[in-house]
Amino acid sequence: MDILIRSTPDGVSLAAADILADYARRGATLGLATGSTPLGTYRELIRRYQAGEVSFADCTAFLLDEYVGLAPEHEQSYHHTIRHEFTSHVDFDDARVFSPDGTADNPWAAAAEYEQAIIDSGGVDIQLLGIGTNGHIGFNEPGAALDGPTHVDTLHPQTISDNSRFFDSAADVPIHVLTQGLGTIKRAGHLLMLATGEGKATAVAALAEGPLTTMCPASVLQSHPRVTVIVDEAAGSKLHNIDYHRFVEANALPR
Ligand code: F6R
Repeated sequence: MDILIRSTPDGVSLAAADILADYARRGATLGLATGSTPLGTYRELIRRYQAGEVSFADCTAFLLDEYVGLAPEHEQSYHHTIRHEFTSHVDFDDARVFSPDGTADNPWAAAAEYEQAIIDSGGVDIQLLGIGTNGHIGFNEPGAALDGPTHVDTLHPQTISDNSRFFDSAADVPIHVLTQGLGTIKRAGHLLMLATGEGKATAVAALAEGPLTTMCPASVLQSHPRVTVIVDEAAGSKLHNIDYHRFVEANALPR
C-alpha cells in the first residue's frame, strides 16, 4: 500500500488526477465514486480535458453504488450525480457510464446483472474510492462480506446521518442501496483511495494500520496488491508510521 500525504485537499486532488489521467489516456475502464471527496479530482480532470491534456473518449466507467428507489433523474441518484459532477463535462460516451439500476423491480437481480456487466467488460482497471467515517467503502458497511459480489445492502445509521446533508432530512435518505461488494472492488487492477479532513482520520488509520476485519470494510485494501491511498495532513493525522511522511509533497508517484 502506497500512502501519499499532501498538505491540503487540493494537493490530494492533483495527485489523484495525475494517476487517473494516465489511465484515461490508455482508454481504461474507470471505477468512479460519488460523495464529496472526489469532487476536486473531478474538477481538475475537467480542467485538464478543457486544456486538451486528457480525453475520456475511449474510457468506460462503472459506479460503485446507487440508492434503491431513486430514479436516474433524481438529483441525489448517483446516476445523475456522476454526470452532473464529472462525466457530462468531458468527452465521456454517456452510454458507457454504468451504474446499478436503483429502480429495478428486483434489486437483487439488478445487483447480479451489474456484477456480470463488470465481468463481461473485462473488469475495472482503476477504482476510485472514498471512505465513510465508519470505514465503509462503496456502501459496504461494517459487517459486509469480505469477498462479496454486488448486492443489496442496508445503510448504517452513521451513513444515513453523514449523507443526510445531501437531502432535506435524514428521513429522506434511502435506507437500501445497491453496491459493488468488497469482492467486486478487490478485482479492480488498482485501488485509489482518497480521504480528506480530520473526520476521516480514525477510519484512515483503521484501514491502513488496523486489523483486516469486516468491522472496517476499507481494511480489505490491505489484501490487494496495488493500492494507492492519498490523504491530506488532517486525514492522515492518526497514522503512526512516520515513514509515510516522506511522501509529503513528493511529486513522483509510484505508478
Ligand atoms: C460513494 C461511496 C461512498 C463514499 C463515502 C465517503 O460512491 O461509495 O463510500 O465514498 O461515503 O463519502 P464522502 O466523500 O462524501 O465523505
